[in-house]
Amino acid sequence: MKILVIGASGQLGFDIIHELKLNNIDCIGCDSKVLDITNKDSVDSFIRDVMPTHIINCAGYTKVDLAEDNIDLCRKINVIGTKNIVSNCINYNIPIVHFSTDYVFDGTKKTPYEVDDEKNPLSVYGKSKYDSELEVEKFDKFFIIRISWVFGVNGNNFVNTMVNLSKTRDVVSVVKDQIGSPTYSWDASKLVIDMIKTDNYGVYHATNEGFVSFADFAREIFRLTNKNTRVENILTKDFNSKAKRPLNSMLNKTSLVNNGFRLLPNWEDALSRYIKEKNIV
Ligand SMILES: NC(=O)c1ccc[n+]([C@@H]2O[C@H](COP(=O)([O-])OP(=O)(O)OC[C@H]3O[C@@H](n4cnc5c(N)ncnc54)[C@H](OP(=O)(O)O)[C@@H]3O)[C@@H](O)[C@H]2O)c1
Repeated sequence: MKILVIGASGQLGFDIIHELKLNNIDCIGCDSKVLDITNKDSVDSFIRDVMPTHIINCAGYTKVDLAEDNIDLCRKINVIGTKNIVSNCINYNIPIVHFSTDYVFDGTKKTPYEVDDEKNPLSVYGKSKYDSELEVEKFDKFFIIRISWVFGVNGNNFVNTMVNLSKTRDVVSVVKDQIGSPTYSWDASKLVIDMIKTDNYGVYHATNEGFVSFADFAREIFRLTNKNTRVENILTKDFNSKAKRPLNSMLNKTSLVNNGFRLLPNWEDALSRYIKEKNIV
């Protein structure tokens, strides 16, 4: 195996490279300075030179609110960038792992989303990720992994934001009516290693287990890091964010189990390991 990890400087890419190395799997990582996925010629020549056995695409425009004002850039990276990679997968028959998001759904369903439930993204970012999935599905050897609320040691995320806010605030207001599951990128990375050893291609949901609101997620962050900051519940409609987000982000993970993969650990367990790994306390 020789794995090319695109977007290796992000939360997921960093942990995937780490996990590949722990498993003694040959890998090459690149960020946007080494390979700009929006440049088709660069992507073509880079992949031709590396000629990996698998490609793991962790690259993406991930700034959900900023995307509302940067539609072209968001789509260029998430849709055209993905298309550029996939055309090489098709040419050289290279299986691809691609990450997507709960934001492909509109959140109006009352129960956890199945992988093939109707997509109706509410945001520019969500739409671009759904369109990226359609690009990936033009090839038959794909793993599309939808994750949500990602936290990892190499990047900015909700956990870090809450910890930073707690340094200056006694109270933070956090939405209580968005329900979903956090995903520790290291846990997702271990799943990816298991997946690439198989040909069980398809669309998967793979967050940590358990469902929680953002407000209760914040409370657990403060509890585990011994902060006295109080969380005030607010409603999404009263929170001034640029992009619309689904209220129900719960994802059903049975397709993992049905294909012989392990569920990720519970989110509280993942959060506590992350906090220790980051040495936040
Ligand atoms: N973060 C979340 O909460 C979340 C939730 C659901 C799904 N996802 C999906 O999971 C994947 C990884 O997310 P993440 O949180 O690890 O992202 P991240 O930390 O924001 O990292 C993004 C990566 O993409 C690279 N990148 C950006 N533009 C690029 C370009 N033009 N060419 C090549 N590389 C480029 C970045 O490289 P530079 O460092 O050089 O810019 C970086 O390595 C994405 O597909 C995202 O949509 C994330």
